[in-house]
Amino acid sequence: MRRASAADLEDLLALETRCFSEGDGLFHRRQLHYLLKSPHCAWFIAGHFEGAVCVLMAANGRRRWGRLYSLAVDPQYRKQGVARRLLAAAFAWLREQGVTTVRAEVKSANGAARHLYADLGFTEEGVLPDYYGPGDPGIKLYRPL
Ligand SMILES: CC(C)(COP(=O)(O)OP(=O)(O)OC[C@H]1O[C@@H](n2cnc3c(N)ncnc32)[C@H](O)[C@@H]1OP(=O)(O)O)[C@@H](O)C(=O)NCCC(=O)NCCS
Repeated sequence: MRRASAADLEDLLALETRCFSEGDGLFHRRQLHYLLKSPHCAWFIAGHFEGAVCVLMAANGRRRWGRLYSLAVDPQYRKQGVARRLLAAAFAWLREQGVTTVRAEVKSANGAARHLYADLGFTEEGVLPDYYGPGDPGIKLYRPL
């Protein structure tokens, strides 16, 4: 497990493309480049791009929280605890930044991710109608760190 840098752009893009389609919110090169360089953001990579996670620091006035922004495990490495390890590294980084809550959104239809987040102690706190497109709702999640 290691922290990513701007040099990982192409490999991360390839991983995201193996894991997401356009409708799933696949990042474009420019967005990924911005996120890799932002001081408010951290990417962690498992092994040789078996999986990756991105977390952000978000703020609203004096209120700050972490946001889980992307999580993807290569199909051939799924169900081996890679996501669990990636999230542990991401949560540790967020705690170091001094935040005490992490928030996320997930597609209502994404059973694997909802199961993972429930297993890791996230609470589903509301529905976001049409969040991922017409008729494709999201679920809002939070977890204390
Ligand atoms: C969701 C995803 C990240 C899970 O990654 P993973 O490395 O396979 O997950 P792990 O092996 O760490 O699993 C941890 C827990 O998640 C749950 N889980 C993972 N995959 C699951 C599945 N297909 N069905 C049900 N539960 C699942 C289980 O509770 C599992 O614990 P267990 O192995 O003790 O039963 C992966 O399937 C993926 O990349 N999917 C496509 C992209 C995506 O949906 N990202 C999340 C967007 S919000």
